[in-house]
Amino acid sequence: MTVSRPHGCSAGIPLQLAVFVVTAVAFTSAVTQNTSEITCGFISQKDEGSGAPETSVSPKVSNILEDLGCYLSFQGTENIYQATKNVEVNIFEDIELRITMSISNIISCFWFFKKSKACKLSFDSENRYITSLAFSQIKEGQAGKYTLLVTSETGNYTVVVPVLIRKKPAKPYFRKREKSDSIECISESYPQASVEWIFCKTPEKSCPYKRHEETGEIDGIQMVQHELFQTYIWCCAVNVLGRECTSLFTIDLNERQAAPLPELLLKVGEPLLIRCRAVHHNYKFRIQLSFENREVDQSRYSEGLEYQANFSAIRIQHVFAPAAERNDSGHYTCSSTAHLNQAALITVLEKGFINVTDSKEDFEIGEEEFCFEVNFTAYPPVRCMWLFSKKTFPCVQSYSVDGRSISSKFCNHQHQSGIYIFYAENDDTVVTKKFTLYVRRKPEVRMQLLFKQISCVAEGYPASSWVWRNCLELNSSNCSEEITEGIQNFLPERRSLGSWISSSVLHVKETATTYSVECCANNSAGSACEKSFINLSVAGAVSSPLDNAAFYVSVGFFLLLMAFVFAFIFLKYKKQFKYESQWQMIRMIGPSDNEYIYIDFREFEYDIKWEFPRENLEFGEQSIR
Ligand SMILES: *[C@@H]1O[C@H](CO)[C@@H](O)[C@H](O)[C@H]1NC(C)=O
Ligand SMILES: *[C@@H]1O[C@H](CO)[C@@H](O)[C@H](O)[C@H]1NC(C)=O
Ligand SMILES: *[C@@H]1O[C@H](CO)[C@@H](O)[C@H](O)[C@H]1NC(C)=O
Ligand SMILES: *[C@@H]1O[C@H](CO)[C@@H](O)[C@H](O)[C@H]1NC(C)=O
Ligand SMILES: *[C@@H]1O[C@H](CO)[C@@H](O)[C@H](O)[C@H]1NC(C)=O
Ligand SMILES: *[C@@H]1O[C@H](CO)[C@@H](O)[C@H](O)[C@H]1NC(C)=O
Ligand SMILES: *[C@@H]1O[C@H](CO)[C@@H](O)[C@H](O)[C@H]1NC(C)=O
Ligand SMILES: *[C@@H]1O[C@H](CO)[C@@H](O)[C@H](O)[C@H]1NC(C)=O
Ligand SMILES: *[C@@H]1O[C@H](CO)[C@@H](O)[C@H](O)[C@H]1NC(C)=O
Ligand SMILES: *[C@@H]1O[C@H](CO)[C@@H](O)[C@H](O)[C@H]1NC(C)=O
Repeated sequence: MTVSRPHGCSAGIPLQLAVFVVTAVAFTSAVTQNTSEITCGFISQKDEGSGAPETSVSPKVSNILEDLGCYLSFQGTENIYQATKNVEVNIFEDIELRITMSISNIISCFWFFKKSKACKLSFDSENRYITSLAFSQIKEGQAGKYTLLVTSETGNYTVVVPVLIRKKPAKPYFRKREKSDSIECISESYPQASVEWIFCKTPEKSCPYKRHEETGEIDGIQMVQHELFQTYIWCCAVNVLGRECTSLFTIDLNERQAAPLPELLLKVGEPLLIRCRAVHHNYKFRIQLSFENREVDQSRYSEGLEYQANFSAIRIQHVFAPAAERNDSGHYTCSSTAHLNQAALITVLEKGFINVTDSKEDFEIGEEEFCFEVNFTAYPPVRCMWLFSKKTFPCVQSYSVDGRSISSKFCNHQHQSGIYIFYAENDDTVVTKKFTLYVRRKPEVRMQLLFKQISCVAEGYPASSWVWRNCLELNSSNCSEEITEGIQNFLPERRSLGSWISSSVLHVKETATTYSVECCANNSAGSACEKSFINLSVAGAVSSPLDNAAFYVSVGFFLLLMAFVFAFIFLKYKKQFKYESQWQMIRMIGPSDNEYIYIDFREFEYDIKWEFPRENLEFGEQSIR
């Protein structure tokens, strides 16, 4: 019996993510047979071509169904099916779990993950039960072990499908090891991260790092013991998807204090670890960390001394708590007999937050480079992404110089107008910020000639205004005489967010048979013109390479119209003819005839008051006697 160890997890630390990494096989001994009453699959959308979102133009997406190889791992009153393959997805991907069951008469069916949820059943072409669980833009909190519980008349079934989310390492954090002078660095991630210790001022990749031998305790955790006297202590977690670093919170009495009080944010329950460090040329000095001017409890306190070769010495002190509480918030002061005192502010939050700085949300740009930018503060650190037309783009976060605020920029809009969304989440909250981008576009002009009208339509952003000009010679590019009469401009219409349609019509005067005109649309992005040569003597219409199609359409339309007119006249004539013959029939054929039961009006008695024989009716001028 083998049980895989959850990585990134250790007793006493609530790592929600750890649960889902229970990858393998807890019940191997009980496998008896290989019935395939239940098959598990997972559907993911794969972008065709490279995975990187290089273009925001709608990508080709195909759905791929992958079999997870569910097998019966335990048989008894409850049949347990385990997936041999984990569902591995990228964060914010759309996926669907699909379980197919050749079971008869299912009575009830539930999905269970954190809480239970009734499942919907349908049938496939082979009349098997199918149930699906769909995730739209899967979030980190949705990673874990999904269990399907099915009660049927023939037996009960449990299907277990672990869902793992590939992501770059979470920001590492530090913890003091119990009964030891070492500190641990912990980072959760999938795929598993390796941990590096860096003792440079900033954690550049070029800086030499120590990758301590894994202690064999718990993956994703590493310790540093001897280097605790270093000025800077960084811990970086690295996997194929990225690298995240954290520095140990230190009050260094030999460094000039930064202008605002250094501040450390924590959440209730997280480990607290603060270091005070001081170097002096004579080891005979003392340092003392205190909390709100009181001595720190001995159980939360440790110290160290390291002599240097030249009689100088480094002293360090730690204050730590395995799980911070609200009342741990306050000022921690490091005092020394040989240095100036320095303090730091620790704030222990009940709940995490994301605080996005207000900023402009609508932008109009031309061809220049432009990036959206969001500034925010947050704790715990956020996962974020940018969204445009249902596509997600990675979100790069960079810390401000003082490390207090974070900025994320998005430049990959490729000058497409539309709505761009910044999305950020941490364990406690979610924020979105919506931006609208309008990209100025030079008008694109289409000209259409129809009989005595020339119409021009322009598409661009912002809406265009029109100028019509006469060209001096028929074929020349010298069009300078502005036309002011016979122009009808229409109100622009918005076609989409970043596109206006403007149109204008010129009514042609018949004074000249041939001439050349141009229409020009103009907006703040530029102007565009379209020119045409008009020869009214050609069948009363126009000739220009552009309008041949229009001309033929008009001719076609005219012929069609003529056909209609002829058809109409013919039908009318025919109808009249028919009517007359019927009239004849009515007159000629009496009631005794069988085929036509026409009413012979002569059969009726006239109401003398109102009626008289039809034959006596005559139309004519009204004559007044
Ligand atoms: C049993 O199930 C496993 C996992 O799906 C599969 O690889 C194997 O071929 C099956 N064996 C038989 C005899 O069907
Ligand atoms: C299936 O589970 C139900 C409760 O969910 C239980 O009442 C029933 O006895 C179980 N059936 C079998 C065959 O174990
Ligand atoms: C003592 O040596 C350390 C390095 O070993 C050096 O950083 C420090 O400046 C020296 N101090 C004095 C007073 O020379
Ligand atoms: C904070 O409160 C807890 C009880 O809730 C108490 O045990 C602990 O000593 C307090 N810590 C401080 C620093 O006051
Ligand atoms: C968010 O920022 C605003 C303005 O900067 C500030 O007033 C507010 O206290 C902040 N909220 C949190 C939770 O930090
Ligand atoms: C974000 O912060 C940086 C640096 O503080 C500043 O230059 C920039 O204007 C800010 N941007 C926004 C959108 O607030
Ligand atoms: C007008 O220009 C076209 C090409 O732009 C040319 O083929 C044609 O010969 C010119 N006609 C006259 C009358 O200049
Ligand atoms: C266009 O015509 C005007 C008026 O005749 C003239 O002044 C100008 O030089 C001409 N331009 C070109 C490029 O032929
Ligand atoms: C284009 O239109 C703007 C106003 O929208 C006007 O100021 C400008 O002079 C026009 N340019 C041309 C070439 O017509
Ligand atoms: C205009 O069309 C008529 C009839 O086809 C033709 O005779 C005449 O040459 C055309 N005029 C020009 C300037 O092309």
